[in-house]
Amino acid sequence: MEDNKLQELAPTPSAPLSVGGGRESIHVFAPATVANVVCGFDVLGFAVDEPGDEVIMRLTGKPGITISKITGDDGRLPLDPAKNTVSVSVQHYLQSVGRSDIGLDIELHKKMPIGSGLGSSSASTVAGLFAIKTLLGDDADPIKLLPFAMKGEEMACGHGHADNVAPALFGGFVLIRSYEPLDVVRLPHPKNLWCAIVFPDVDVPTREARQIIRKNIQMKDAVTQWGNIAGLVSGLFMQDIDLIGRSMKDVLVEPVRSMLIPDFYKMREMAMELGAVSFGISGSGPSVFAFTKDEATARAITQKLQHHLTGLKIGSNSYVSTINDAGPKVLR
Ligand code: HSE
Repeated sequence: MEDNKLQELAPTPSAPLSVGGGRESIHVFAPATVANVVCGFDVLGFAVDEPGDEVIMRLTGKPGITISKITGDDGRLPLDPAKNTVSVSVQHYLQSVGRSDIGLDIELHKKMPIGSGLGSSSASTVAGLFAIKTLLGDDADPIKLLPFAMKGEEMACGHGHADNVAPALFGGFVLIRSYEPLDVVRLPHPKNLWCAIVFPDVDVPTREARQIIRKNIQMKDAVTQWGNIAGLVSGLFMQDIDLIGRSMKDVLVEPVRSMLIPDFYKMREMAMELGAVSFGISGSGPSVFAFTKDEATARAITQKLQHHLTGLKIGSNSYVSTINDAGPKVLR
């Protein structure tokens, strides 16, 4: 996204914002997200309770941004503020509100694997943006932060999609109705919808997972896909979990990306046998997720899939959560 486009989407406020509101520092959490939700490539996503990333931001009194510490990344993320998605997004935001004069230090604590398909870069970027917005006492609608968060996604994987950053920022289930102009819709969801996530420890960088997707699709497949997207959205509004389940089918992306995930179809069979409502790839993978109607089924699924992966000599992590409607939160 061009910088002037960013400015257009997030206009400069008429008066510069003041700093701190009595705070010298802030500690923020932002949640992991499941993008695509099987049939809605780049247009649907939801937030979960865990995992999530944390940012500690301190005012330094010396103009400019520094990154003093990153943990949980195995040394993979840059400490250089010109190259880190968190600091770059925060810098763009500061410019837009006329406060490039502020001095900030950032600590980033990664609590989820990079390249997991759980919106790892989004959680970090949203935590950073939410931290600076709160430090500045900027009470503008959080939608204003979305273009800056999308800028971070563009840096991280070469494409500024919003289906991770939007649910990380707003919480809940989110539809990106349009990218140009940006039009984001929060969707309702049944309260008893549980999500079981398993992350098989194999690396699937989003950038590469996007490159292997077909560029042209058949009309027949498009018809199937938009029927399913409409069915899923209807199911969310109607609180109809069975309709949600039968709509979560993807004939466009999953057939290609599933090849990057060990025993994807076997894992789906196991999850469905245990009573999953639906099963698919989380974001660009390798994480997979299942919706269930209760917590016990979600836990049985994660246990069974992790056991299966251990048999393949593949390590894994798992998370069980309802849909997180709160989005980012201040921890301290
Ligand atoms: N919609 C994006 C993709 C999400 O599938 O590439 C990446 O997590």
